[in-house]
Amino acid sequence: MLSSQQLQEYDQQGYLVINDFISPAQRQVLMQRAADLIESFEPPQKRSIFTTDEQERSSDDYFLESGSGIGFFFEEKAIDSEGHFTVPKQQSINKIGHAQHLLDPVYKTMVKELDFATVGRELGIKKPRAIQSMHIFKQPSIGGEVGLHQDSTFLYTEPKSCIGFWLALEDATVENGCLQALPGGHHIALKQRFKLLNNGGTEFECLDDKPWPTRSLELLEVPAGTLIILHGQLPHYSAANTSNRSRQAFTLHLVDDACHYPTDNWLQPIASL
Ligand code: FE2
Repeated sequence: MLSSQQLQEYDQQGYLVINDFISPAQRQVLMQRAADLIESFEPPQKRSIFTTDEQERSSDDYFLESGSGIGFFFEEKAIDSEGHFTVPKQQSINKIGHAQHLLDPVYKTMVKELDFATVGRELGIKKPRAIQSMHIFKQPSIGGEVGLHQDSTFLYTEPKSCIGFWLALEDATVENGCLQALPGGHHIALKQRFKLLNNGGTEFECLDDKPWPTRSLELLEVPAGTLIILHGQLPHYSAANTSNRSRQAFTLHLVDDACHYPTDNWLQPIASL
């Protein structure tokens, strides 16, 4: 699937952009499925917001349980201080995650059809395991920022093996919060590991306290249908959506089952999966 030039580019940059990886019809299938899932979702009394705020994320059991389920996370600005929605339900969701690729027939079929496992093998994964999926909305006007991070922080293996596949379901532009990445940044050390604590909480363990490199991030503006492959140690970021258009994306993360997957990773897939 990948040319030697593409493999070389991935090695040098830590990311690879492939246009027209997914057809308009396939994009529509995923976006319609997400809309249907949201339609049948009954918001609970206690509403989980996806935030880059570390304290809030760590204390949220709903987030932890979504590793082996299908969870719905609200945009921070979709709910006011009194707990009321500021937008209609369909425009309130930040993301759906993190196991729909295993539990939902539509996502499951699409992941198989797109054959990420083969691409993963070409990038050096011996036994590809789809460990996490997300449908990200970046809702118009309220879609939140996602701070600079490395995906291996959240999907840690020994040795490190995580690769992220980020599929643009809609055009991603500067205005609606496209991905931004640090070219060659996958050569820096993994800075943090998000892990479970014995008492049930979580923490970010510091692995390397050097500051992020100061060179500027590359804006990855891409048309709908584009796949961006991200090395697990590549620092990446996305700004808030200031436009009146959403920026939907579907992401899948692979790890190598030949590597050790620690039992204190936040995401613990249920045994039967
Ligand atoms: Fe990420």
